[in-house]
Formats: sequence, C-alpha cells, structure tokens
Amino acid sequence: MSRALLLTTGIAAVLLAQPILAKENAADPLAAAEARAEATVKQMRPEEKTILTHSIMPIDIHKTGIKFPDDAIFGAGYTPGIKRLGTPPLRETDASLGIAWLEGGRKDGATALPSAIAQAASWNPDLVYRGGAMIGSEARAKGFNLLLAGGVNLMRDPRNGRSFEYFSEDPLLSGVLAGAAIRGVQSNDIISTIKHLALNGQETGRKFVDVKISDAAARESDLLAFQIGIEMGHPGSVMCAYNKVNGHYACDNDYLLNTVLKKDWGYKGFVMSDWGAVPGVEAAMNGLDRQSGEQLDKAVYFGDTLAKKAASDPAYAARIDDMNKRVLTAMYAFGLDKNPTQPGGKIDFEKNALVAEEVARQGIVLLKNSGDVLPLAKTAKSIAVIGGYADGGVLSGSGSSQVQGANGPAISRPKFGEGSQFITEQYHRSSPFAAIKARAKDAKITYRDERYVSDAVLKASQAEVAIIFATQWMAEGLDVPDLSLPYGQDALIAAVAAANPRTIVVLETGGPVKMPWLDKVAAVVEAWYPGARGGEAIASVLFGETNPSGRLPISFPASESQLPRPRVDGSDWIEPGHIGASTAEGARLTADYDIEGSDVGYRWFARKGEKPLFPFGYGLSYTTFESSGLKLSGLNASFTVRNTGKRAGDEVAQLYLVNRGGEAKLRLVGFSRVSLAAGARKKVSVTVDPRILADWNGKGWTMPGGDYVFALGKDAEDMGQTVSVRFPEKSWKD
Ligand code: BGC
Repeated sequence: MSRALLLTTGIAAVLLAQPILAKENAADPLAAAEARAEATVKQMRPEEKTILTHSIMPIDIHKTGIKFPDDAIFGAGYTPGIKRLGTPPLRETDASLGIAWLEGGRKDGATALPSAIAQAASWNPDLVYRGGAMIGSEARAKGFNLLLAGGVNLMRDPRNGRSFEYFSEDPLLSGVLAGAAIRGVQSNDIISTIKHLALNGQETGRKFVDVKISDAAARESDLLAFQIGIEMGHPGSVMCAYNKVNGHYACDNDYLLNTVLKKDWGYKGFVMSDWGAVPGVEAAMNGLDRQSGEQLDKAVYFGDTLAKKAASDPAYAARIDDMNKRVLTAMYAFGLDKNPTQPGGKIDFEKNALVAEEVARQGIVLLKNSGDVLPLAKTAKSIAVIGGYADGGVLSGSGSSQVQGANGPAISRPKFGEGSQFITEQYHRSSPFAAIKARAKDAKITYRDERYVSDAVLKASQAEVAIIFATQWMAEGLDVPDLSLPYGQDALIAAVAAANPRTIVVLETGGPVKMPWLDKVAAVVEAWYPGARGGEAIASVLFGETNPSGRLPISFPASESQLPRPRVDGSDWIEPGHIGASTAEGARLTADYDIEGSDVGYRWFARKGEKPLFPFGYGLSYTTFESSGLKLSGLNASFTVRNTGKRAGDEVAQLYLVNRGGEAKLRLVGFSRVSLAAGARKKVSVTVDPRILADWNGKGWTMPGGDYVFALGKDAEDMGQTVSVRFPEKSWKD
C-alpha cells in the first residue's frame, strides 16, 4: 500500500468521527514551504548559518547576571532573528497544558488546561483541538511563536512522573489526540513540537537510562503514536528525548532521527533537542537540527564548533544547509514571518477558562456509583467535605509544564528544601468546596483537612454524604515509588467510609492509583488534574449538571506486581530529586522494554491474563448505552449506538481487534464519541488504520492473511458483538 493511501486511511478513522478534523486532509504545510526555505538558505552568508541551529534559555539559570536581547521573552527558549533575511526570532515556551508559569518569573498568568491524561479521557479530538487552539492563542498574545507541546510518549509505566503530561497507553488514541492538539496550537500561526522522541518512558535516570527495545516493538507502539501524531498534526518541530535508545542518546540517534523520522516518515520540519540533551557536535550528523537550552549542555556545540566543522568537512557543510532549511521550513509553513507575534496581546481569560472547564467536564471518569449515590440532590441537607485542599483549589502537576493563573497558586506545598518553586505541589484557584456550596445552598456543609482522622470521621458520621478529595501529586523528574495514595490518605478514606456508607471519593491524581478501600465506598470519581476551573467541573459532575462521559486512557492496575516491571528501573539506587538531580556523571542504567514489547498497558494485561482494577476504556455514566449492528466492509466499520437510559449523555464507542488468525490479540482500532439524547440512536462509522492490524516486518508492515475478529467494546475487557473478516496477506512500506 502506498504511503499516500495509508495516510488517507489513517485519517479517515477520525475524520468520520470528528468533522472538525477535516483540516488534516490539507496537504502537509511543511512540504509546501520547503522550496522557499531552500531559496533562503542559498542567500545565507556563512556567519548566518549557525544562528538558527542553537538556542538559549532566556532565564538567568546560573545567576551570572547575563543580559538577554530586548526581544527575548522570559521563557524556555530564544533564537535571534536574521533581519537581513526577514526571519523572526524564535520565542519558545512550554507547553501542552498552557503557557508555563516558571515560578511567576514573567509575572503573568495563563489558563491551565486539565492534564493531558484528563484531556485524553475525553476521547474527543475535537475538544483537544480546541484546547490546543486556546493555549496557542495565549502563547501568541504573550509574544511566543513556538510552543513546546505535543507530549505523546506512551504510558508504559503508570509510575512515570510525567504521566499527567502524556495522553495514553495506546498508540492510536495518543497519536490522534496529539495530532489534534498540535493542529489546534498551530492554527494560531505558531509552531508546536511533538515530544519526546522517543521511548521517554520514565523519569528515574532520564538523562542516561538506555532503553532496549526491538525495532518491531518500537514501530508498533511508541513510534506509531509519533507517526500518527505527525501525520495528523504536522508539527513544525520534533523534540528528541533525554534517554538513550538501544545504546545511543535519542538526540544523537541516527536510526531514530535519520532513518525513521526523516527517511521513512518523510518528515520535513526540524528536530530540536530537549533541554540539556546534546552530547556533542556529532549529533548534527545523526539528525539533530537544533540545540536547545544550550546553557544546560556542557558546551554550545551547534554554534562556532559546528561552523568550524562545516568549514572543513563537506558532509557537515551539507548538513548545516539542511538544518537551516528545516528550521526555515517550519517558520514559513506556519507564517511566523508573515504574521509575527508580539507581546501584549489581549487574552479573554473568562472565555478561555470555559474551554478548560469543558475539557475537565468531558475528561472526568466515573469509576463507581453504588446505589446511584450520584448525582447528588441539590436539596441535600448536610455534606462533609474532607481533604485534598478542596477548600483552596485543585491539584496540578509540576515541572516545566506547570501553569498558573495571574495570582499564582492558591496553595503551594514545597517538596524539596531548596526554596525552588519549580517542584512544589501547587493548587489552582478553583475550590471544589466553594463550587459544592454554591450548588447545595441550603445544606450544612463542613470542611476538614486530612490532619486529624478522628475529626474527619466525626464530621462524616454527622452528614448525609461525605466527599473525600484524595490527591496524588506527580512531577517531571520524579517517578512515584508505588501507586498508593500518599500521606496516609488510604487509611483516612477507609475510616471515613466506615463512618458513612454514602462516602464519595474524588481523585485528583496524575494517573492510576490503587484503591484498597474500593469495596467500602459508594462512589469514585477520577478528576485527574482538572485545570483552571477544576472545582466547578467536579461539582457539576457530582450534582449531575454534567453527565460523566470520560473513559480511562490507561489501565488502572490492581497492584504493581501486575506491571511488566516490579519497580521503575533504577528507583532502588537513584536518589529521587528535582529535575537536575537525575543527571549522574558516568551512571549506567538499562530499561528492558522488550519485556512487554508493543504490548503496552491493556495489551500486557490481556497477554498475561491479569485483571486490572479498572480496564482501559472504562467509565460509567448516569445513563446507559448499547452498541450493536456491527458491520465491516474491508477496513470500514459501522454500527449503531443507542442511549438506553433516561438522561442525555455521551458514549465513547470503542472498536477492538480481539483475534487475528486464531490467535488472541487485543488492539484498539477505532473510537468515536457520540452525544445522544435519552432514547436516541446514531450510526457511527470508523475506518481502521491497517497499521494497527499489522506487524512491523523490518522494512514495512505486514498483515498476515487470515480471519480478523473485531468486537464492539465497552472497554478493553467488556466485549459485545463480534464480526470476523478475512483479509489476504498484505505487505507495504511505511
Ligand atoms: C522537558 C521538556 C521541556 C523543556 C523546556 C525539559 O526539561 O523535558 O519537555 O519542553 O525542558 O522547558
């Protein structure tokens, strides 16, 4: 099958489900801009050829009093423009959840989207696009023209401290959503990255861990997520990762950057390094186009050192031209020169907060609802709210992606005694307690924090309903050692549940957690890190203004022993610390990803016959749905979804491959979010991307001939109607 055909089939799956994605059918904007970039490179003088190839962080991180050019903006990156050639400066900021707060260093706030995992739980590319468009518009208004967004690493381990920054454990869901987010950002005539290529699966030892994985396993999992994200999103830049892959740093990796990305996928934008991820000038020959955050590397390799190499070595000279061409291609493709950004633009924060709130509402997952304890009646007489700083705000994840509103965090709880706010547990100013009070106006509502269990239990026993907010803080640079709720919250929940059978647990977590108290509580609501209006969104679900419709984008294990690794590799000897502390001179660490190979997440559970606490794709509603009438004609599937309950609601219809040629095989092959009034039905069409059905054969994809069995799934465990289709053997190049 030709690449073009593959692209069309891959795109159609989502196109049919989400009309807003029609734009992705447009030709690659990067390809259209390449000729103009080539012409500019021809006009470049030798001394201009290493301006675009490296970038500083316009932050005085080493406290040397360094002055930055006037047009630099405090943020993650700055590259000067070239006036003579009309190229604008590149002004860069994090990231996927909004414009980074950076300890308030710019003294401006931004709208915080819910975490990426919360966005993914909506299974709604249209909404994720709107989120991207919103944060891109704020980037633009602040003068930035490059957003370091698009985190698409697969969640190979739920203990990964950056789980909250990534979408899911599945390549199709992750790739489609990353593509949508990137197109949203880039709709503002600015560049977005996709990151971190590739296999950046853990934070422990992230700057030296060497990931071992076979080519086939990588192509069918993490790389496929990138490939789909790039095809659908056309990001102007790809950020390579800190870790090594099969012995070579990801940013110095000929195979990943030259063979896979540029040759096999035909990528025409530029590869930028992660901050402090460049081992030397040779990385240029291995496919790296731009050194980022150069103060964090041992030297500025892509400035004078690169220029000297180019002066004496024609291979380097050719590479320099190609590097410049790629940066310029991205600039031109997204109109950075024609529609330049300027700081001081107007931001409608009220309007943008509504986007964040809508994402939170659609991403909240109802995990348990015994005896229909939810939704709560607004006439409730007494409610005890306990824990999680619910009287102050909602939790967020830390690190480079940290966003805060104009007045900074409602609460900031330091985690390291170094005075750095960069790694503190921060809460957005959106109090669930206030939002609950506003809805149950006549109720007696009390709040107790988690300090004194006996007091919390007393209040719970006196109330009709107890709502406990439980948090699991996660941060870039820090994996969690296990999946328990920290600070003894498990014991608090068990004690409160023993005192009040109508106990509702609201989780604000970076990813999956264990729930030893699950049988004792009446309801569980997974709210993730719900962003700028999280408190409002949570209350609207609790009181039934929003019918919950989120579905898990990651399996919730019953215990860590079910995971491919009993603990995160290296966590037994690498000291946890902030971002820099994970760098250790000469340290060695290997992570064997061939244990699970491409069977990440639910595929691993299926392969091992393990039952998770909650499966991938799971989520309840206040109504009920039925999917039926599955038909397949080649790769085109259609079926009908019906709302069989009494309330309007959204269903996320899921289609899985469950068996191939007589062998059990579980893969999500399509999905569609459908809004239905009570009693209504809708026909859904999904076109299956053949790569999801195929194996990587070393040079391309092969679908073995035989019977392929597809099933309508409520989730990755609960399968309904199946249909079998016979396909002849077929192989094609990427
Ligand atoms: C992170 C990137 C981020 C960059 C710039 C790095 O530490 O890994 O995701 O974009 O910093 O802030």
